[in-house]
Amino acid sequence: MSSKPIGIFDSGVGGLSIWREIHQLLPMESTIYLSDSKHAPYGPKGEKAIIDLSIKNTEWLINKGCKLIVVACNTATTNAINTLRKNYPLPFIGIEPAIKPAALQSKSKAIGILATKGTLGSQLFHKTSQLYSSDLLVIEQEGNGIVELIEDGALYSDEMKHLILSYLQPMLDAEIDCLVLGCTHYHFLTPILKQLLPAHVKIIDSGKAVARQTKKVLENTKLLNTTTVKKRNHFYTNGEKKVITSLLKSETAGITKIDF
Ligand code: DGL
Repeated sequence: MSSKPIGIFDSGVGGLSIWREIHQLLPMESTIYLSDSKHAPYGPKGEKAIIDLSIKNTEWLINKGCKLIVVACNTATTNAINTLRKNYPLPFIGIEPAIKPAALQSKSKAIGILATKGTLGSQLFHKTSQLYSSDLLVIEQEGNGIVELIEDGALYSDEMKHLILSYLQPMLDAEIDCLVLGCTHYHFLTPILKQLLPAHVKIIDSGKAVARQTKKVLENTKLLNTTTVKKRNHFYTNGEKKVITSLLKSETAGITKIDF
């Protein structure tokens, strides 16, 4: 039983999509969200840089008293979660592209995966991909530039639409029926993707599964908050506050700009 907060970090605002699922499933839990927007995007960085940034974020959240850390970033998970688990005693939850559910649901046996260069190039991704994609055509696509536009508040720009169309075209040509969103930022593209994709193409992301796994681990480690201590949700960013504000809408509590 612990009233300490759950820590959540991402290279920026993408992990807010995960925060929302966790908050909905576990409304009695306090949360601290860390948006490392100043160092976004992580995707083009090498493994060592991604590990160093993940360590920096983890230590910041540990110093804030977090009881568990959700790495709400596919790029950080696939490159750094093994190191984090080795170095720190608290539980970590990660997020990876949902290839398995896509493989199980696909009838056309062709799926698309949109993710960052860092995720698609990682060993962890390769391992998972090999496990589930033997009888599938998998179209992997780097979503270069998407994170930057979202971090700049240009989610609904023409530039974004053009970029996405160009990334979807090879997948449409291959007649995919499932599109895996392998980056937490991409969740916010869902309304645009629904406009651009044929109706039968399923959009698959892992947000709900991450929230369920968080709950399970809190239960197993006896860290669920069953106290009556008033819960708090706080958001910290070393980027612009306005992008977080626009994505959180009315759910917002405190948003603090930090120099970090
Ligand atoms: N939200 C991160 C992810 O899930 C974005 C990575 C980046 O900053 O490039 O991969």
